[in-house]
Amino acid sequence: MASQLTRSPSSTIDDSDAMSTTSSSSSANPKDDEVWDSATSVLVTGGAGFVGSHVAEALLARGERVVVVDEVNDYYDVSRKEANLDVLRRAGGDNVRIFRGDICDVAFLEQVFETCPMPRRVVHMAARAGVRPSIDDPFVYVHSNVHGTTRLLELAAKHGSDSFVFASSSSVYGGSKKALFSETDAVDLPVSPYAATKKACELLAYTYHHLYKMNIAGLRFFTVFGPRGRPDMAPLKFVDKISRGEPIDRFGDGSSSRDYTYVDDVVDGVLKALDRPLGYQIYNLGNGSPTRLNDFIKLVEKYTGKNAVIRQKPDQPGDVPRTCADISKAKTLLDYDPQTPFPEGIRKLVEWYQSAEAAAAK
Ligand SMILES: NC(=O)c1ccc[n+]([C@@H]2O[C@H](COP(=O)([O-])OP(=O)(O)OC[C@H]3O[C@@H](n4cnc5c(N)ncnc54)[C@H](O)[C@@H]3O)[C@@H](O)[C@H]2O)c1
Repeated sequence: MASQLTRSPSSTIDDSDAMSTTSSSSSANPKDDEVWDSATSVLVTGGAGFVGSHVAEALLARGERVVVVDEVNDYYDVSRKEANLDVLRRAGGDNVRIFRGDICDVAFLEQVFETCPMPRRVVHMAARAGVRPSIDDPFVYVHSNVHGTTRLLELAAKHGSDSFVFASSSSVYGGSKKALFSETDAVDLPVSPYAATKKACELLAYTYHHLYKMNIAGLRFFTVFGPRGRPDMAPLKFVDKISRGEPIDRFGDGSSSRDYTYVDDVVDGVLKALDRPLGYQIYNLGNGSPTRLNDFIKLVEKYTGKNAVIRQKPDQPGDVPRTCADISKAKTLLDYDPQTPFPEGIRKLVEWYQSAEAAAAK
């Protein structure tokens, strides 16, 4: 598989796509040394992760050249991220280049730009995600999310940017008691460091739009789930544990509800936002139809054919009781129209999980 060219302790360049030897000056494949056009390539940060890999795959499917930058950290099992990168290599061929390193590392990014000058379109998905771990280690969240996003905004401003799209989060709505969360709501009271970093990214993005007239869209995702999902999030965790007959932790009495969004719908929204630069915009990308935790568990039982073993836990600090996106703005401005009801998404997730388990057992 891929050999890696180590550039600095924190940064490696994956040469399986960009270079086929350990030296950039002696590449076996002349295409690897070709300098890409910044106008016809797209930078996807966090492309080894869950949502980023799906976005990169969709861009490759429509014939785009995609520059993936990801530090491939161990927030969860790195083999999952390696598998995501393998999907992109297979899907992209010569149209994908994969670079491993920290988006805060300027020297690393300068090396990326030698063959892939800063693309004029950016999909910035790299971040430390997850609410609860941000309470234990807020500094790593400030690093990747606030420092990292500022670095990318700065580079996009310096090199010229046509469209800059980044992942914010529904967690900016904090403990809002509103029935529908709207982009016009005041979101000044984040209840976790993670949420605070996402709000900070939105503020910084506005500043860059104001100063440099950049087109920037901040996308507030609402609990994304689907194939290749994050193992720290309830959908995949519950499918896995219930399938294996292991207990699941249920925080609270099961009456909390979430607006779960199937990953294909989120990807559709991301690409639409990228393709329709409209100054500075914040969009909710949700499903618009929340599901109670107890109903979610019943669906997983239905599609796995197993009964859940429930371990009762108290409510968690930083968790919010209910999320529901008002998606009217994204519908109006982007023609965003989520197609996957939650039960159908869970069915697809279980199907993917079972085929991945079967393949791993071979
Ligand atoms: N999945 C969701 O439900 C959800 C909900 C709201 C917001 N979001 C946001 O969407 C984006 C994608 O989330 P995801 O679920 O795919 O998470 P993920 O953890 O699967 O992917 C994030 C990727 O970013 C990379 N990364 C982190 N810090 C980096 C750094 N400093 N330099 C380079 N790479 C770095 C990680 O290695 C990882 O592969 C994130 O910004 C997240 O905060 C996700």
